[in-house]
Amino acid sequence: MTSDRIKDTIRAISIKDPGAATAYHALPDGVRKKVLAGLDNKGLRDLTGLIKRSKKQSSSDADKRFLEIASSLVRTPFYLIDETLLEENMRILRYVKDRTGCKILHALKAYAAFATFPVMRKYLDGICASGLNEARLGREEFKKEVHTFGAAYSDHEIGKILKHSDHIIFNSFYQLERYGEKAIKKGIQVGLRVNPGHAEVAVEMYNPCTPGSRLGIVHEIFKSEFPKHMALVDGLHFHAMCEQNSDVLERVLRSFERLYGPYIRGLKWINFGGGHHLTRDDYNLERLIRLINVFMKKYGVQVYLEPGEASVLNAGVLVSSVLDIVWNKIETAIVDTSAETHMPDVLLMPYRPHIMRSYLPKKKKYTYRIAGPSCLSGDVIGDYSFDRPLMRGNRLVFTDMALYSIVKNTTFNGIGLPSIMVIDNKGKLKLVKKFGYSDYRDRQS
Ligand SMILES: Cc1ncc(COP(=O)(O)O)c(C=O)c1O
Repeated sequence: MTSDRIKDTIRAISIKDPGAATAYHALPDGVRKKVLAGLDNKGLRDLTGLIKRSKKQSSSDADKRFLEIASSLVRTPFYLIDETLLEENMRILRYVKDRTGCKILHALKAYAAFATFPVMRKYLDGICASGLNEARLGREEFKKEVHTFGAAYSDHEIGKILKHSDHIIFNSFYQLERYGEKAIKKGIQVGLRVNPGHAEVAVEMYNPCTPGSRLGIVHEIFKSEFPKHMALVDGLHFHAMCEQNSDVLERVLRSFERLYGPYIRGLKWINFGGGHHLTRDDYNLERLIRLINVFMKKYGVQVYLEPGEASVLNAGVLVSSVLDIVWNKIETAIVDTSAETHMPDVLLMPYRPHIMRSYLPKKKKYTYRIAGPSCLSGDVIGDYSFDRPLMRGNRLVFTDMALYSIVKNTTFNGIGLPSIMVIDNKGKLKLVKKFGYSDYRDRQS
């Protein structure tokens, strides 16, 4: 029976049957590995292409769902997470694991809506946390491996952090000396975050290797201190990327190996951090797979990746309503969602999020500035044009809003937090969280 399924799947891949990706994903772990072993390089590349195509198809199906739900629900604003799209992302991550034997963690800092953890848990090895609260959420809600990295830990939190972590990563030799033995006594693996000496992140604010960065031990210090402390260390961690493709990883790895290669043998693992935009359509998965395979073979270590964005890329939207339209040299639509409070990266990066059925300003007949209801004059989401004039009450659907949004929200101006809705993979819509006055009040005193 199993051998028939393997043969059928290989045959479906070889004729590029659109159902082949679904058939592959449905196989149990060991059987998927056998399918991979039965494919030549071309077959493997074809499977990668089919997996990407399946995700694209799911995305265009979901667009219709998003628009329908946006126009049918009475109360806005709300985030709408689509589990089918989330699962397509998870499948891509698991495919990388299947092809390489690497482990993949989800970075909770990007997205922590635990109502959808059951879908993610099936595919990933665990989560990475930035400190106590994320470690605890990972332990209690994700229930798999927890790897914690904090720029500096405090005496009053370290005990609890260790309680909830399987790996702890230190940002200095001081922190390693202070807490390393304690971690080892509890059976926790210990790592050091290093600065790999190369990054290509254009925006300073998001570049972990910007000159003078506090994130990661620099090589000058590492080379003199590591030999004194190596008995305590199980692995190294670097994080140097942001929304980037595997060509950047290749260059970061080259620099990392040049600086730290001589220290890797004898370690158990190397964590390549996050910033890998693995689930983006143009992401070169074959190159990533080659880089990981070569690295693991060369050094005999376990490789970890810890993407955040890639897990939920394009898997959710933010639905809002036009409250009013005012005029001052330009028509501005004031909506019931705010860049400042509900999508802060729009102002920080800055970037212009896409709104479904909208175009660049002036491309279509009706152009509007879309802005939030807060007192901040810069609470502007961007300028957009539309086929038809906007009306008060119209719904606007901001795409790709699951990541770095819910986790970063504030209640500045007392603005309410958007509800969180989930469409499960059977198409059923669920309200998983509604916020109210107490969510504002309880954070003030
Ligand atoms: C240490 C570390 N790991 C993982 C991530 C996740 O990165 P991304 O969401 O860009 O994949 C970050 C993001 O800042 C990070 O700082």
